[in-house]
Amino acid sequence: MQDILRVAMPKGRIYKQASKLFREAGLVVTGEFDDSRKLIIPVPELSMEFIMAKPVDVPTYVEYGAADIGIVGKDVLMEENRNVYELLDLGIARCRMSVIGLPDWQPVLNPRVATKYPNVASQYFREKGQQVEVIKMNGSIELAPLIGLADRIVDMVETGSTIRENGLTEMEKIFDITSRLIANRVSYRMKNERIQELCDVLQKVIPAEGGVKQ
Ligand code: PRP
Repeated sequence: MQDILRVAMPKGRIYKQASKLFREAGLVVTGEFDDSRKLIIPVPELSMEFIMAKPVDVPTYVEYGAADIGIVGKDVLMEENRNVYELLDLGIARCRMSVIGLPDWQPVLNPRVATKYPNVASQYFREKGQQVEVIKMNGSIELAPLIGLADRIVDMVETGSTIRENGLTEMEKIFDITSRLIANRVSYRMKNERIQELCDVLQKVIPAEGGVKQ
C-alpha cells in the first residue's frame, strides 16, 4: 500500500479555486470538501488525506511535516517565511499586495502603517529607506486610515471593491500574488515520486501565467 500524502488545503478565499484545480487535474475532491466542517478528509482511493487549515497556518503545517504539501498564497508565504519548498505557481487566486491610503494622503514624519502583513510591510519600507511604524491588525484593515489609526495600510487587493467602497486609493503595488504548491523538505525527498506526479497533473491544468517555480 502507498504511503498517505497529506495535503494542507486553505479554507476561505483560495479554497474554491484550489479544489476546482484538483478536480480538473482528475483528483477526487468530493462535495464533502465544500460543505463539511470536518477538518480531516481522507481520500483512500488516492492514498491522500486533505486537512482544512487556516491559510496563514498552511506553511507551518508543511514546515513541520504535519502535512507533506500544501496550497498557500504568495502573500502568506512572504509573510511567514517558512522553511519549505515552493514547487509550483498554481496561477489561481490572483491578486496583489499594495500600499493603500486616502486620496488626500500627505507625507508625515514616522507614518503609521496598519497591516495583516507586518513582515512584508516592514521589509518594503525598510528597502525604500522610509521609517514607518507598523501596526499589526487582523482584518478589516481598510478601517485604519478611515478612522485615524494609521496613515496608510499594506493589504491585498483582489477586485478592488473594498478600497473603492471605502474611498481609498491604491498607491503602490508591492508584488503580485497567486497561490503556490509548497512541500515539506523531507517529504519532498521521501515521497518524491508521488509529489512529482501530482505536480505533473496539476501543471497541465494551471491557468496561463502559472508554472514551475525555480
Ligand atoms: C481581504 C483584504 C481586503 C479585501 C480585498 O480581506 O484584506 O480587505 O480582501 O479584496 P477586494 O479587492 O476583492 O475587495 P478579507 O476578505 O480576507 O477579510 P478581512 O478584512 O477580514 O481580512
